[in-house]
Amino acid sequence: MIPRSFIQQLVQRCDIEEIVSGYVLVKRAGRNLKALCPFHSEKTPSLVLYPDNQSFYCFGCGAGGDVISFIMRAENLDYPDAVRFLARRVGMEVPEEGDDSGAQLRARVLQLNREAALFFHKCLKTPAGREGYAYLHEKRGLPDKIITSYGLGYAPDSWNALGDYLLGKGFTQEELLAAALSAKGRKGGIYDQFRNRVMFPILDLRGNVIGFGGRVLDDSKPKYLNSPDTPVFKKSRNLFSLNFAKNAGKEQLILAEGYMDVIAIYAAGFRNVVATLGTALTGEQARLMSKYAREILIAYDSDGAGQAATHRAINLLSEAGLTAKVIHMEGAKDPDEYIKKFGPTRFQLLLEGASDVIAHELAGIRARCDLETSEGRIEYLKSAVNVLADIRSPLEREVYASDVAQVAGVTAEAVGGQVNALIRKRAKEREKKEWRDIELNKEASQDRINPQKRQNLKEAQAEEGILAFLMDHPDSYGYLLNRIRPEDFVTDFNRKVLEAMASLRREGEVSLSLLGQLLTPEELRGAAGILARHHDQTQTKELLDAYIDILLAHKDRLKPEAARAADPADIEAYRRRLRERK
Ligand code: GTP
Ligand code: MN
Repeated sequence: MIPRSFIQQLVQRCDIEEIVSGYVLVKRAGRNLKALCPFHSEKTPSLVLYPDNQSFYCFGCGAGGDVISFIMRAENLDYPDAVRFLARRVGMEVPEEGDDSGAQLRARVLQLNREAALFFHKCLKTPAGREGYAYLHEKRGLPDKIITSYGLGYAPDSWNALGDYLLGKGFTQEELLAAALSAKGRKGGIYDQFRNRVMFPILDLRGNVIGFGGRVLDDSKPKYLNSPDTPVFKKSRNLFSLNFAKNAGKEQLILAEGYMDVIAIYAAGFRNVVATLGTALTGEQARLMSKYAREILIAYDSDGAGQAATHRAINLLSEAGLTAKVIHMEGAKDPDEYIKKFGPTRFQLLLEGASDVIAHELAGIRARCDLETSEGRIEYLKSAVNVLADIRSPLEREVYASDVAQVAGVTAEAVGGQVNALIRKRAKEREKKEWRDIELNKEASQDRINPQKRQNLKEAQAEEGILAFLMDHPDSYGYLLNRIRPEDFVTDFNRKVLEAMASLRREGEVSLSLLGQLLTPEELRGAAGILARHHDQTQTKELLDAYIDILLAHKDRLKPEAARAADPADIEAYRRRLRERK
């Protein structure tokens, strides 16, 4: 757990306006600030920032919270990582306590991974590893120098060779399991996860070994086994070979599909190459690349799956502000095979001939349609117009539209007219959908967070009023808790928020950011929503009393027939309450 005092200091330094401005354009609207919500698509701003309590809330989709919740959503990070992300931005060091078992375990797992990588690598030159070496060196044609640079290795065909070796070095079973180098057997023992596979260590930018990929030597399945996420490894956040590529001094990165492609491309003299780790490209990886390059050359496999992956990658890359280009391989299924067949010089030409994304998509459509028939030409035009309508720059749109017109044998004006009509139609549909989503979301998100609110609307609203009042008037806790108790709150959700606020209050300050440590992100959204909905109301003591009265009245609404069925102790309590109120 990150200390509260640190969270307080951190959020003080991370102004919500400044942070959110890094993602969307923020405009002033009275006391507050408004922006287009980055978490759902909209054209009229419904995201409101409240500088006074440093919170945000989207009246459209119900997203809300403090600056940490914002980063969690925007960067797709969990709570501790969002805190680290912000801390890095403002140059603060997140305290990793001396007795922090998490940090200790991470350090041990890194040591363990390094030992394992050395073990696998050394194995190549032993009799037990002869097959592995033959695979890499002879079958895949990798020179010794490359095998060494990448620290490739071999996991012997044994259930316990690695495990025994590492236990002998003083590591524990728990550590081996945490590193996912071992798996738990049925009888409680452990066995080696990687067996009879050539091994590809995965390094982070500091040179730590954070995980492994392992390939079988034959056609058995699964072909590749990759480390799962561990305390030191998150697949969605790392790229294979980025440790080399970042030093290549190029503005371009080549993005390949797998380990072997990367190594083949590297061995051919192109060091600016990376790959994802057995999963589809993520937004985080795209943003990571944008720190080191401006342009990405996608060199995925030429098969259907590779092309579909190319299409997805293009969107993510452009969202990260990168220019994407696509290389066209003919006569080989992947870069590894291409380089083997045609050599590095031809591959260089391939890189130089990479086409921009629009040209790539249009060429794909053209290849699918039979332009000899009128049906084929119509199909071509329809699909091409769809692609053209995605282009933001009007000038670029016109250039491509005239190409398309020429291919289909129609006038450029006709194509342009279709494209403009489609753009208008899409804009209208988007607007309609936005409104529908807003209405649906408003209801749904409130129901989800506080399902009891519907049946107890008046009470739930009173509770929310009380919570909003307390947030603005921290001195009122004593008064409130004298008059009613958390148990008197009717809805579980609001009670939970009250209890969390009261427990913070007992120890010091109450803020949305500190609540974020006690509530789930979803609950914090709900809390931020309550604050946002009450933000512009004048809060008075009379209003607070009125809210409290509503809850007390609800409590006293114990009907006579209910009283008959009630426990004698309950009835006594009820009488006492009535007496107290007189
Ligand atoms: P070679 O056959 O060794 O040339 O590998 P390749 O790089 O051509 O492999 P392929 O195109 O089949 O796969 C690309 C990447 O997808 C690999 O590098 C792996 O990261 C991943 N991958 C492939 N097969 C599997 C599998 O069976 N399981 C998992 N988890 N990942 C796989
Ligand atoms: Mn291959």
